[in-house]
Amino acid sequence: MNKLPNTTDNSDVLDSVKPSHNGNGNGHAHHEESYILITGGAGFIGTNLAHRFLTNGQRVVIYDNLSRPGVERNYRWLTQMHGDLVRGEIADVSDHDRLRRCVAGASQVFHFAAQVAVTTSLVDPVHDFEVNARGTLGLLEALRSVKNPPPLLFTSTNKVYGGLQDIALRKNSNGTRYEPEDPSLREHGISEARPLDFHSPYGCSKGTADQYVIDYARTYGIKAVVFRMSCIYGPHQFGTEDQGWVAHFLIRAAQRESITLYGDGMQVRDILFVEDLVNAFLLAQKNMSRLTGQAFNMGGGPGNTISLLELLRVMRDLTGTEPRVDFDDWRPGDQRYYVSDTASFRAATGWQPQVGVRQGVARLYRWLAESHIAAASAHNGKIDKAPAFSPAWGAAEVAE
Ligand SMILES: NC(=O)c1ccc[n+]([C@@H]2O[C@H](COP(=O)([O-])OP(=O)(O)OC[C@H]3O[C@@H](n4cnc5c(N)ncnc54)[C@H](O)[C@@H]3O)[C@@H](O)[C@H]2O)c1
Repeated sequence: MNKLPNTTDNSDVLDSVKPSHNGNGNGHAHHEESYILITGGAGFIGTNLAHRFLTNGQRVVIYDNLSRPGVERNYRWLTQMHGDLVRGEIADVSDHDRLRRCVAGASQVFHFAAQVAVTTSLVDPVHDFEVNARGTLGLLEALRSVKNPPPLLFTSTNKVYGGLQDIALRKNSNGTRYEPEDPSLREHGISEARPLDFHSPYGCSKGTADQYVIDYARTYGIKAVVFRMSCIYGPHQFGTEDQGWVAHFLIRAAQRESITLYGDGMQVRDILFVEDLVNAFLLAQKNMSRLTGQAFNMGGGPGNTISLLELLRVMRDLTGTEPRVDFDDWRPGDQRYYVSDTASFRAATGWQPQVGVRQGVARLYRWLAESHIAAASAHNGKIDKAPAFSPAWGAAEVAE
């Protein structure tokens, strides 16, 4: 198996991972031709989007420093699947010259590279700012510096709306979830009209980037759209306790380890299966001239909500075993209820999610089982090393 060094110099890495069966063999093909640039492209969302473009025969440049444990596996998978159509720039977003060179040849840009965890941002807010806020500003400057800047899609977060503590909540009759007392909020979720209220260093750095992207569209005419995303889940997600909770719960259960619920487990999210998000990305780029300068809330919406306790129930139904659970205190910035109102993007493009919660969780479960991800720790970067599965997770056929 090819080993990817953790380096910002990509030339050796690319040569080492580039398969010969599907490529033209020179290792530097297609550099002059137009491509889609995905920063953070080896990550969960980036890999799914890249795969869609590559399957369609479009060239993709993955710009990623591979800092997230496990994503080197995604990168290798993409190169093995798609050969020379995919090119890697194993580099940091702080490398402005390299970023500019990549932007210059791109037909579209998706900016996903980020420090993604609230918890990590609390430990090192300066690094979080450097990657998320300064990194995005660097990308915007790269766009501003080229002649015909390619259109940009930036992934922001629901954390820009803060803790939402003013929303009166009640418990549902089963005691499994919170829901707003306001019937209109229950029906529609949180819209873009909600005032911005950055919470946590991560909320601040992503919110800053979100506002810079909108302002570069307004001030410099860069074509750009922002998605303020709720919880996304699906294959290629190396979920940890800090980010990617749906995948994290499934991985922990497969390892027969206990899952820690921070708070009472009744907090609610709308969850969106990653393929539905990819459809939304493509629609945003297709309608860019109309949508530029706008931010859209993006998630599963009121039709695809789940609480932590309810996910445990879905998992029990899937695996036939009761997940082990511990409880701990609420974490800073935790929202008890967040559901995206996606009506604005739906009205603009006709988009709506196709994959329901049970079907999506079953598909993620199956991917984890087939890829032997779950038995290794996603925390310590040794995902390749422990492919032993517990019987309940082995070859089980999962009905969607
Ligand atoms: N997954 C979600 O539920 C969710 C929700 C809201 C917003 N988002 C946003 O979507 C984007 C993608 O998230 P994801 O879930 O795919 O996360 P991910 O961690 O899987 O992907 C992020 C990628 O960025 C790379 N990266 C990190 N720092 C970098 C740097 N300094 N330079 C270059 N590359 C760097 C990582 O190696 C990783 O491959 C992020 O911007 C995140 O904030 C995700």
